[in-house]
Amino acid sequence: MKSIYNSNWIESEHDLADKAVVFSKEFTANGNIIHAELQITSFGVYEAHVNGKRVGDFILAPGWTNYRKRLQFQTYDITGLIGCSNLIEVSVGKGWLMHYKDDLSAALIAAIEIDYDSGEKDVIFTDESWSVSLSKIQYSNIYNGDIYDAAFVDERPTFAVIKNMDKKMLIEQQGEKIVEVEKLPVKKIFSTPQGDICIDFGQNMTGYVEFKICGKKGEEAVIYHAETLDSDGNFYTANLRSAKQEIRFICDGRPHTYKPIHSFQGFRYIKLENWSDEIKAENFKAIVVHSDIKRTGYFMCSDELINKLYSNIIWGQKGNFLDVPTDCPQRDERLGWTGDAQVFIRTASLNFDVNKFFEKWLSDLSSCQNADGGVPHVIPDLQWKDDSSSGWADSAVICPWQLYLTYGNKKVLAQQFDSMCKWVNYIRSHSNNFLWDTGRHFADWLCLDENDKGDKHATPVELISTAYFSYSTSLLIKAGRVLGLDMSEYETLLSNIKRAFRKAYLDKDGRVICNTQTGCALTIYFDLSSDKQAAARQLNELVTECGHLKTGFLGTPYLLHALSENGYVKTAYDLLLRREYPSWLYSVTMGATTVWEHWDSLKPDGTMWSTSMNSFNHYAYGAVGDWMYSVAAGINIDENSPGFKHIIFKPLTDKRLSFVKASILTKYGEVKSSWQREGGLVKYSFTVPAACTAAIHVGGGAKFVSGGTYEFKEEIK
Ligand code: BGC
Repeated sequence: MKSIYNSNWIESEHDLADKAVVFSKEFTANGNIIHAELQITSFGVYEAHVNGKRVGDFILAPGWTNYRKRLQFQTYDITGLIGCSNLIEVSVGKGWLMHYKDDLSAALIAAIEIDYDSGEKDVIFTDESWSVSLSKIQYSNIYNGDIYDAAFVDERPTFAVIKNMDKKMLIEQQGEKIVEVEKLPVKKIFSTPQGDICIDFGQNMTGYVEFKICGKKGEEAVIYHAETLDSDGNFYTANLRSAKQEIRFICDGRPHTYKPIHSFQGFRYIKLENWSDEIKAENFKAIVVHSDIKRTGYFMCSDELINKLYSNIIWGQKGNFLDVPTDCPQRDERLGWTGDAQVFIRTASLNFDVNKFFEKWLSDLSSCQNADGGVPHVIPDLQWKDDSSSGWADSAVICPWQLYLTYGNKKVLAQQFDSMCKWVNYIRSHSNNFLWDTGRHFADWLCLDENDKGDKHATPVELISTAYFSYSTSLLIKAGRVLGLDMSEYETLLSNIKRAFRKAYLDKDGRVICNTQTGCALTIYFDLSSDKQAAARQLNELVTECGHLKTGFLGTPYLLHALSENGYVKTAYDLLLRREYPSWLYSVTMGATTVWEHWDSLKPDGTMWSTSMNSFNHYAYGAVGDWMYSVAAGINIDENSPGFKHIIFKPLTDKRLSFVKASILTKYGEVKSSWQREGGLVKYSFTVPAACTAAIHVGGGAKFVSGGTYEFKEEIK
């Protein structure tokens, strides 16, 4: 067992509120060191230094888990950092602990193991011999930012107090660490019409600004962060709601380079206030931080706006994958909303390797799950009274299944299977005659077919809930079969749900009675119709009649698939390529660099959707990325041979694009697909990794191949 389990929780005797503190300890090593390691974690977020050198590169360690039951600790090799006399200093700020009100307070636990060549070993534990001083970081808050006083020195450090607290929640690092990924230079320094001095980094992103400053002693320079400017070109922060996102730096007359260590912001622009120092571009860098997930997917085509949309999807993922898949990184939420995560996971899993990232989040999901199987709206949960919305809580089933499909991860199905069953059983016990018609649900959140008051969606909530009841049950059955279990009980349940669904929501011709795009898309994609073609025809009519999409969070991911899988390829491309509002490309034409929360976060006349809920970095609608990979480029997973062991290539082309190419790095190697339309021909190229097989669907019929690169030509009819 790791030494950390024998160590002590320590805290400061003062009530720290939002101040950061530094725990420190001098220690000696008595012999020739062959190995030294630091095992450490905190309630709050920490950054450790040994002899003035940063330990590791984990930003906002130890990350965010269900702190009531699970807290990750990290193990760092510090052999190269220590000598005979040593000093360890650990800064601890509140971080995500701010969500836990009074039931948890900032604390540290650590153990330093030193192995000597004599075979002896020293272990240094956190205890009351560690001292605690107030940090120069006088205030630090995930939503509000920092106040840093460069001149401050705590003249009266105290000794740490041992905190009597359970260590059962300590677990080894399970997820990916959060790291600094890249530094963006200043794109433009400018004055707004209101006279503010601002900097544009050219990209909406998540992280913080590193800046150089040398102000007069006592002077407080301020940096404000914003995602966008308003229609007059002024700095706009109303959409942050109560999150201040500001860095206040109190100067001491000397030069400094500063960046926050316990907070992060979502921004593209900054505004400088009280900046007596000369404002030079080389003094400011925007540092992008996110979980250390490896990029796996690439997509490119002949339409520059689509390429920009794809780039915005990638940036949306970077900005919202900070240990937890969040809704947005800027306003006073930044929470692991389950619905957003499930609609985006398929795209996310192709863009980047998120296997470990989601395994950890799913462990939190099951540890937050209620005894009756209900699933909180956000994971880690905040103990809200409300929970278990359809389409949100279904994350419990959809996310593990996606990890199985994309990565062939059978282990996660075993790990999550109880949680998956509990969720389906929860729905079963809250349904009546196989219709899920109870509870409170977000329904087709932010769809465009609401009534005038915006409070009632045209797709009935019960239809959506019952559709998800069916979908989750169907995935649970598949997962159970993969694990070799008898799923007959759920097979019977599934046929009962489908029968009830058809009776309640479809007419005798197989058309969806509510007559909405989302109603049709869910019916088709979740295989609920006895006559898929009838529902697809209806969907095609609905889209072509109004000329655009009307779907919200739940209908959007399936809309294009429901059309293209049933012969309406052109209509699907019409939606993808449309530039006017509402569409994916509308935001691109308005200058977006990330995916917006609303189809019209910024309206054509330059006004904002609202101040109350208007994020410019919300990945949910970026779920269309999956269609770009799997239909436009035609790279598909075979669920009977997941992880791309067997690939199904089935690109569907459109004359408005002259080429498409995409690649996905799988554990077997790179899968590639491309096509180009030229002189009456479509030329295709497919690459299959050596350990894989593939079925290539072009020119009618399928060709079965093993590893290699294959080229085909087909005449355009
Ligand atoms: C979040 C969403 C989330 C929703 C629930 C919002 O405030 O930002 O993305 O899914 O609440 O409907």
